[in-house]
Amino acid sequence: MSLLIRGCTVINHDHSRQADVLIDGETIATVGASIDPPAGCEIIDAGGCYVMPGGIDPHTHLELPFMGSVSADDFEWGTKAALSGGTTMVVDFCIPDPGQSMLAAYQDWRRKSEKAASDYGFHMAVTSWSKQVHDEMEIVVRTYGINTFKHFMAYKGALMVNDDELYNSFARCAHLGALPMVHAENGDVVARMQEALLVRGISGPEGHAFSRPPEVEGEATNRAIMIADMTGVPLYVVHTSCRESHEAIARARAAGKRVHGEPLIQHLLLDVREYAHHDWDHAARRVMSPPFRDKQHQDSLWAGLQSGSLQVVATDHCSFTTAQKRGGIDDFRKIPNGTGGLEDRMPLLWTAGVNTGRLTKEEFVAVTSANIARILNIFPRKGAVAPGSDADLVVWDPAARKVISAKNQLSRIDYNVFEGFACAGLPIATLSRGKIAWRDGDLRAEKGDGRYVERPAFSPVHVANSTWKDLTAPRAVPRGAIVP
Ligand code: URP
Ligand code: ZN
Ligand code: ZN
Repeated sequence: MSLLIRGCTVINHDHSRQADVLIDGETIATVGASIDPPAGCEIIDAGGCYVMPGGIDPHTHLELPFMGSVSADDFEWGTKAALSGGTTMVVDFCIPDPGQSMLAAYQDWRRKSEKAASDYGFHMAVTSWSKQVHDEMEIVVRTYGINTFKHFMAYKGALMVNDDELYNSFARCAHLGALPMVHAENGDVVARMQEALLVRGISGPEGHAFSRPPEVEGEATNRAIMIADMTGVPLYVVHTSCRESHEAIARARAAGKRVHGEPLIQHLLLDVREYAHHDWDHAARRVMSPPFRDKQHQDSLWAGLQSGSLQVVATDHCSFTTAQKRGGIDDFRKIPNGTGGLEDRMPLLWTAGVNTGRLTKEEFVAVTSANIARILNIFPRKGAVAPGSDADLVVWDPAARKVISAKNQLSRIDYNVFEGFACAGLPIATLSRGKIAWRDGDLRAEKGDGRYVERPAFSPVHVANSTWKDLTAPRAVPRGAIVP
């Protein structure tokens, strides 16, 4: 089965050109001028449109059990929402309960993700430290094709890990050729500030933001960067939301450290005033960690994307219904943390980034797809419009418009934090491995169409006979840490 997209401009992260795109089965066969369609070839006339690599959202929580609730969008509806907005792959966080086997958690996530309509991968969370965790990390990398490990420096008493655990896990990542990721907030300080706010009678959603100021994020980001450096491993900082954290990352990069930063579309566009809204539901629906910030932080994040010191725009899609949010009606600490965005990330970023001149079209592709494909070691299979790449593509009409409304969304929740935002520039078709998954409002992708994407370790650092107790094993990575 072949498909030809013709008359378009192809945008990659490093160049653009007028070209047709011929797809053979699941992959791109040719990108070139005036391609003759083979017999029986389906044709999409895309005059006036751009063809770009499908978006990759490296930060989702679909059907995640979290804070006494389960996030409302599962792998079926999360990925369908993604496809309708031009995103063709999500990377979700497989999160073992502290003490639970990573292997068991992986099986849970594989079961939940059988419903996925788009391609997907996993990061694995390290939520405690033990010999079992140490040993299972190798299986996760070598057998399951997961090359990223997430660490929560917040959520004290639940998912949080301490510096000792961070050091052990980061060093293990260095040894395995894996990339550690951090949710960087100082969870001890957040817990103290939460208690102090409640003592002063502040129990509403505004207390959530007061308890998590930029300082707790900046401190944790700096700490994670230093620990990563001492263990000789690169670092990926998820949901970078503030100037302090961005500056820590930019400083580290200027010093030659391999540190990546990921702002969310929410932090780029929504601000802290949302938590002061007179309607409790409105404010609570926007409770997420880190919280939204004020304009100076948003400006810093945009500058980071423009200058390259921040590399990826994600969503952290973790949606809860209003009813679920009301679990924290008397105490902001109990409001399930998380917001949506999968459906809207690409149109919003195009509107606020490309249409304003902040980002070029190529930079848009870089921060929505190509950069994360490179960081996750799946480029150019994903993240490129090039012969041999998976035909995960979005046909983009820069003249198409819509106003975001929960009434029209695929996400299963009853509101949209971007309600009323006007978007100029939208997908008119999304292709997932050569198949039209969504076109002009018609969702064609089906539950189960998605495939699990394995990601190989980075320049594998095999250390012969490494054992739990062997603190002196040599390894082939820069900077000198002691490897457990
Ligand atoms: O508030 C958020 N971000 N919820 C999802 C879990 C996390 O911290 O990423
Ligand atoms: Zn987080
Ligand atoms: Zn998250």
